[in-house]
Amino acid sequence: MSRIFALFALTFSLYAQDPAIEARVDALLKQMTVEEKVGQMTQVAVDVVTASGVGRTHKMDAAKLNDAIHKYQVGSILNVNGEAYTVEHWHEVINAIQDSAAKTRLKIPVIYGIDSVHGANYTHDAVLFPQSYGMAATFNPALAERAGVISAFQTRASGIPWNFFPVQDIGRNPVWPRMWESFGEDPLLASRMGAAYVKGMQGTDIGAADKVVACVKHFGGYSLPMNGKDRTPAWISERMLRQVVLPPYEAAVKAGALTAMANSSEINGIPGHANYHMLTGILKNEWGFKGFTCSDWEDIKRLHTRDRVAATPKEAVRMAVMAGIDMSMVPTDYSFYDLLLENVKDGSVPMSRIDDAVRRIMRVKFMLGLFERPKPDAKLIAQFHNPEFDKANLEAAREVITLLKNDAGTLPLKKGTRILVTGPTANMRSVMNSGWTITWQGDREDLYPTRKPTLVQALQELAGKENVTFVDGNTFDKSPAIEAAAKAAANVDVIIAALGEKAYCETPGNIDDLTLDHAQLMLVNALAKTGKPVVTVLIEGRPRVLRTIVPQSKAIVMGYLPGLEGGRAIAEVVFGLTNPSGKLPFTYPKSPNGFTTYDHKPLENTHDNPFWFEFEFGHGLSYTKFEYSNLTLSAPSIARGGKLDVAVDVKNTGQREGKESVLLFVSDLYRSVSPPNKELKDFAKVNLRAGESRTVRFSLTADDLKFVGLDDKWTVEPGDFKVRVAGLEKTFTLK
Ligand code: BGC
Repeated sequence: MSRIFALFALTFSLYAQDPAIEARVDALLKQMTVEEKVGQMTQVAVDVVTASGVGRTHKMDAAKLNDAIHKYQVGSILNVNGEAYTVEHWHEVINAIQDSAAKTRLKIPVIYGIDSVHGANYTHDAVLFPQSYGMAATFNPALAERAGVISAFQTRASGIPWNFFPVQDIGRNPVWPRMWESFGEDPLLASRMGAAYVKGMQGTDIGAADKVVACVKHFGGYSLPMNGKDRTPAWISERMLRQVVLPPYEAAVKAGALTAMANSSEINGIPGHANYHMLTGILKNEWGFKGFTCSDWEDIKRLHTRDRVAATPKEAVRMAVMAGIDMSMVPTDYSFYDLLLENVKDGSVPMSRIDDAVRRIMRVKFMLGLFERPKPDAKLIAQFHNPEFDKANLEAAREVITLLKNDAGTLPLKKGTRILVTGPTANMRSVMNSGWTITWQGDREDLYPTRKPTLVQALQELAGKENVTFVDGNTFDKSPAIEAAAKAAANVDVIIAALGEKAYCETPGNIDDLTLDHAQLMLVNALAKTGKPVVTVLIEGRPRVLRTIVPQSKAIVMGYLPGLEGGRAIAEVVFGLTNPSGKLPFTYPKSPNGFTTYDHKPLENTHDNPFWFEFEFGHGLSYTKFEYSNLTLSAPSIARGGKLDVAVDVKNTGQREGKESVLLFVSDLYRSVSPPNKELKDFAKVNLRAGESRTVRFSLTADDLKFVGLDDKWTVEPGDFKVRVAGLEKTFTLK
């Protein structure tokens, strides 16, 4: 693991201070008026400069644009108006903005920002990758890095140099409607996946024509609302914050992420946008973050209107800027500009804070090369559709799919099997992509490209139409076609029930009950009664509680939100063209109150209070069999500065080739702060042919054994530890 951190440190140093850039920033800052500086800290939504129309009909308003750029000298514009633009329209929009900026006194280019969270999802016909929590199931950071490269390419080809991604909020509350934007419940896995995305998006030369600046969000602790609902309070102790919540953000920052977005909610009573401890204390001072922070949508205003920590809008602006926010996503007016100017003029915000914020913003603009190349690169349009991009997407989607249950080899289905397909997610693309796709909510089925198949279309393509009967009509919460489906089952060998959730994004995705809709439970109930084997496919943005479906299904396939290649990838797993290798990046709950993570505390697994789950973190079946043996440690003990080598043999003892994610867990047996059951410390993915075996090696240092101690600081305590890989374990001592 320490090697990884060395790599982070190296990457980070590439983004640290470049004297030439610092000199340019200094020179520019000297020329800027206070108005120009405050303008640079202001970000508005594209709606503010829009005349009319959405998507293909969108038109800019020259007078409004002139106001934004010349009257308020905004530093940034964001978002899409309504729905995805074509890459050509993006060029028109960005060209108009930068042409206008080029006519300002100092010719400072605008940095345009967008949420390309699973590909350039706001550009027409872009590659749509699996959403993050599915990507995490691959346990394959190389796939995340590649997705980052392609997302960056298509975003930058659209003329946009800044991506509000990755979401490094830890996914430990499955009720939270943004669970799917996270990389799941484990800090190490989320750290590696997020860092890989940053590397892919920013590369080693952020000034290259096809790179974008990453934005780590939502810093920090946004994902742990007590009641699971988006934008409701979290209570996170300093110990838990440092142990579990902060590491993924820190990994992305250390990987070089040049911007960070604040937590839209509050922790411990402090709104994310007023949290000096987090934004300045930890991010900027402790971690040495040299990029800039931005607010989330309208959240500075909300310090006054919603959170009631600021008595006036002006005070809200002062609070946020003094807490460490460098740029305000205002975003629908210029109030921030006016109020910040007032704050500066009456001395409430010192000029030194403004200079620090503007210095950070300018640093990123210079690093991006925006001053030299503010406009979209027309050459990139020609390479926008690259078949290699689709291939990379399909490869990722294949590794995402996770086989949760497979009684008596129900899957894969044999050639010629007659299949009934039914259920609400069988024939829709929106459900496989969900939010941040073409539109914010991702639910406009009519806007999805039809070049890639839905699940039922993909099954038909692979099995032949004559073998696939489709009974449509059941929706998520209504099941008018149950009878028709059960009747159609008489003529088939197996039933595929495609269940899950409709598309949603952010707060509109709040729910009151984690249980899957009653109508879907009833559908499987009726299908199981026919006596035909039921294969349940889950296409959902969080692990909805399955109850009776689990015993009633002979096989269960978890699709997560697999993106545009999801139909194909799932169908390949169903027919055995792909051997599934995904593993759950979270613990799948068995009951709405039962969401305990794999790294639970001892008192979450007692006689009276057993660890209660449907499928555990790391669970995922294969069509072959992997056997683990010879877990060995290089020594029985490890010194503080030492290193312990761990080796384990993995053999494919089944009949076919397969990929296996090898997970290394460590348990601290006794310590001053009650230890988790076990923690993931490293992982590696191997591909093994039938009969092939491989020795997988890891190494542990004392750094891997540290925890946040009684004084809320990282510490190591000598004692006994257990290394666990699959069913094997070995004990060692830290001296
Ligand atoms: C979301 C952010 C997003 C921003 C800009 C907010 O509502 O919380 O994740 O980056 O909007 O679209």
